[in-house]
Formats: sequence, structure tokens, C-alpha cells
Amino acid sequence: MDKFIPYGRQWIDDADIEAVERVLRSGYLTQGPEIDKFEDSIKQSVGAKYCVAVSNATQALHMSVAALEIDDGSEGITTPVTFVASANCLITNGLVPVFADIDAQTYNISPNEIEKRITPKTKVIIPVDFAGQAVDIDAIKEIAEKRKLFIVEDAAHAIGSNYADGKPVGCCHKSDMTVFSFHPVKTITSGEGGAITTNNEVLYKKLLKLRTVGITKDKQELGQDPGPWYYEMQLLGGNNRMTDIQAALGRSQMSRLNSFKKRRREIVSMYNNAFHDKPGITVPYEENGVDSCFHLYVLQMDFDKIGKSRKQVMEELRQKGIGTQVHYIPVNSQPYYVGKYGEYSPKEYPVAESYYRKCLSIPLFPMMSDEEAEYVEKNIISVGDVYE
Ligand SMILES: Cc1ncc(COP(=O)(O)O)c(C=O)c1O
Repeated sequence: MDKFIPYGRQWIDDADIEAVERVLRSGYLTQGPEIDKFEDSIKQSVGAKYCVAVSNATQALHMSVAALEIDDGSEGITTPVTFVASANCLITNGLVPVFADIDAQTYNISPNEIEKRITPKTKVIIPVDFAGQAVDIDAIKEIAEKRKLFIVEDAAHAIGSNYADGKPVGCCHKSDMTVFSFHPVKTITSGEGGAITTNNEVLYKKLLKLRTVGITKDKQELGQDPGPWYYEMQLLGGNNRMTDIQAALGRSQMSRLNSFKKRRREIVSMYNNAFHDKPGITVPYEENGVDSCFHLYVLQMDFDKIGKSRKQVMEELRQKGIGTQVHYIPVNSQPYYVGKYGEYSPKEYPVAESYYRKCLSIPLFPMMSDEEAEYVEKNIISVGDVYE
């Protein structure tokens, strides 16, 4: 194989390029008509009432927690096996992050573990649809309802996925807000980008303000109306806007979401067939009825059994032109977290720790050919002779 195969990458076609070119020729650069159209395409796809497209999912998570206007010092619960942004949004809003261990099969936050971490200070749960697999939203909603907690679902990995009940992730039938990411390795891309869906009009209006520095020009929202220049800053927000250029790319990509998903799932089937009976390898588990878009394909590899460290395996594969990655170093063990909240002992999250020791994400993206997938299979299998 002469081409390097990364663990994930975008697929840009001529239609995407034409969509971006049209915007560049249109006179709009930042927010213009493409934003509404992109938001409409997301609403339609996931079945939510409202959508706010923003600069990235990190900011979308921050804005979502900000929109809840939760008292400083309250607690929010999330999973340790995620990108740091899922927990950082609590800190940037004055909340204390609390981690609940994951389920050993799905690698998603365990509802039982959430229950154990709830205190009178808990106000919000941030479940993450890890690798594209929807969380057990029914169980999480039941917990949230009992304790009057908000749910901000981090679906950065999961546009195009369905819950076990068949409803699309992002429809917000059980969560207050759902966040998507459109970073290039994600299922669809807008370069950088994110979006928040909700069915709650009050939250929607706050999110619109939080996208633009907390400012509104909506006459119905203003305390007075002295003239056409007038606006009010009603919330403390940042500049979280997406550009029309990004929205045009995102909308063009949305039109291929189903085909991207189909191709991802085809490669997943190939991989599952190749690896399911290999000793020392555990293939991803998909919960009954859940229809994942598979942002990532994460293997659990018994590196002790192979007799090679993960570093050695990653280096060997890299030499063969195959990129791999670790998703994720448990957030509770990041130096910032340990320094600020020293009590997050890895021992408290044994399932996450055991997952972390063995996880390896291997290449999965829709542009991969069968030949490339087979090349990856062959090399993963031969990396430890023990599998032959
Ligand atoms: C689970 C999760 N949440 C949030 C984010 C942040 O997304 P973005 O890169 O769009 O800021 C990521 C990005 O990798 C992620 O994986």
C-alpha cells in the first residue's frame, strides 16, 4: 500500500467544492442564508424543532451548559472516556465535573454509575454517544426526571445514529439539548463546526444570543426600541458563529450522510468478520436495536498476550502505512484535572481504566476501499503472531 491510511478522514467531492465556491461568489462570508439552510437540513434529518449551528462542538457544549444558567459550584456528571471538551464545559460554566464509570460492553457511561455519583449538588448529566453508539437514553432520562436534572447529550460522534427505540440521535425526545461536531474526522464535516439541537424554545432563544456574544436584535426580546441601531447584550457569550462557507460545506455533506453511514457500516462488518474470532481481540459491541453511524472502530487488544506494548503495535502499523489512535486517555487523569481536583483517582473508574489499557482505534472512514480495509485487517492480525 503506497498511500498512508489514517484512522479517520473527510470525504470532499466536487459538489462540496461547488457549494463552497457559490458562497465565496455570493457576497456572504460569515452568517448568511446558508446557516439557516444547514440548520434546516440537520433539523429535518434528526427530527428536532430547533437547531443552532456554531463554530465547533467544544463551544456548543459550553453554550449548552451556559444556557441552563446553573448556579456556580453545582455538579455535572459525565464519562471519563471522552474528549476533554465533554467535561471542560462544566468547568468553564463554574460547575464541578464528576465522572461516572463506563459500561464494559458499550463503553458508554453506565446509568448505574451515574446514580452512584448523584449528590444534592448535581444539576446536569452529559452523556456521550461514544464512537457513534447512542447511550441508554431511556435509563438516563429516568434518573434525570427523578432528580430534576438536565441532560446535555454530547453526540459529537453520533450524527446519523439511532437510539435503541429507533429515534434519531439529536431528536431531543429525552435530552434538553444535543451537540454535534463537524470536525473533519467526524461523520460529516464543515471544516470546523458544531450544532446544538433542542425542542425547547426558551433554550433555543438563549443559544441564539450565546452564539453572538450574548447579543439580541430581536424586537420581541428587547426591553426598549429606540431605533434601528439598537441591540441589547442580555447574556455573557462569546463569538461562536459558524461562517456561511462552513455551513454550505456542511449542508452539502449532510446530503451524503446516509451513504457515509452505509459505507462505514460495511467496513465495520468486514472488520467484525475478520477479527471476531481472533484471540486477544474484542470487536466493538453494538447494543440490540441501536443503529450506530460508527464514527470510530475501537478494538480492545490484549497487549500482554501479544507480547508487545501498544506503542510498539502503533509504531509497527505506522511503518506499514496504517494510522491508529487512542480514544481516549480518561479525562480524570489529565494533569489539569488532577491538579485542580486531586481526588479523581483512576481506581474509582476501573472499567474505564481497563478499557483505556487495551483500546486502539483503527482506520474507518467512508472513502476507504475494500482493498484498504483488507490491508488493515491483514496487518492487525499479523502484528501479533499469536493471532495466526
Ligand atoms: C466526544 C466529543 N465531544 C466534543 C468534541 C469537540 O468537538 P470539536 O472538535 O468540534 O470542538 C469532540 C471532538 O473530538 C468529541 O470527540
